[in-house]
Amino acid sequence: MSNDSTSKTLLVALGVCLVCSVLVATAAVTLKPMQEANRERDKLRNILLAGNLYEKGMDTKRLYAERIRSRLVELESGRILPESEHTNALNPETFDIQAVSKDPDLSNTISRDADPADIDRLPRYMPVFEVTDGDSVTQLILPVYGKGLWSTLYGFVALDRDLRTIRGFTFYEHGETPGLGGEVDNPNWKRLWIGKQAFDADGALRIRVVKGSVAPDDPDARYKVDGLSGSTLTTRGVDNLVRFWLGEGYRPFLDRLAASPDVSP
Ligand SMILES: Cc1cc2nc3c(=O)[nH]c(=O)nc-3n(C[C@H](O)[C@H](O)[C@H](O)COP(=O)(O)O)c2cc1C
Repeated sequence: MSNDSTSKTLLVALGVCLVCSVLVATAAVTLKPMQEANRERDKLRNILLAGNLYEKGMDTKRLYAERIRSRLVELESGRILPESEHTNALNPETFDIQAVSKDPDLSNTISRDADPADIDRLPRYMPVFEVTDGDSVTQLILPVYGKGLWSTLYGFVALDRDLRTIRGFTFYEHGETPGLGGEVDNPNWKRLWIGKQAFDADGALRIRVVKGSVAPDDPDARYKVDGLSGSTLTTRGVDNLVRFWLGEGYRPFLDRLAASPDVSP
């Protein structure tokens, strides 16, 4: 066949396509378990980061096993489900927020005006993570999520055992623009959350992410976190999702903990 013939050109092009598609498909299939394991490890690392337990180079899985105890909470009642009630889908260690919120048996629709985090459906259960120090629980790490500008942001808020003071905040998944909304990953911004008060002494939800910077002499500075500059929409999304989860989502659970010290962290 001549090198200039149309059929040889097509045949070579087809051959190259075939070889490349086999290579891509093989890579996708063989790398998938590794990607999933890395995603899972990243999530554990972020739980530890929210609780200020992680430092570079640490063995994530070991630290997680040593310091974190996972629980499953029924959001409406605030009840912790005993392990006997855990199932494949309802297991705090393998809990898949996206799958659960699509399942009509495991989640409920939320009306538009009761959905500031813009999540459409509220899971009936959520995992929560207790940070342990020997026999005592020092912090609670709560998964939170909601829409920013381009994406749903998934993260964790760590609350001190006083159930008011924020001990850390981190996102492990989002699709906001790097350098703009993506600055939610900036350690300097995440550090601003540490020590802020989510609730006042009367138990009212006070935490806010404000546009711009919090004035140092603002008497309410302990309830306010600086917004991200040039990213008002992501900032508003973060404000909405934090306030929704602390003010509504986990409220029965937090009230229950505050009311009965026996089950309190
Ligand atoms: C390419 C591009 C990407 C952007 N990404 C984000 C983003 O991730 N988050 C965000 O809040 N705003 C983003 N913006 C800016 C918004 O469109 C909007 O202008 C901004 O949120 C307004 O913030 P400001 O009032 O602080 O200026 C982006 C704009 C452009 C052009």
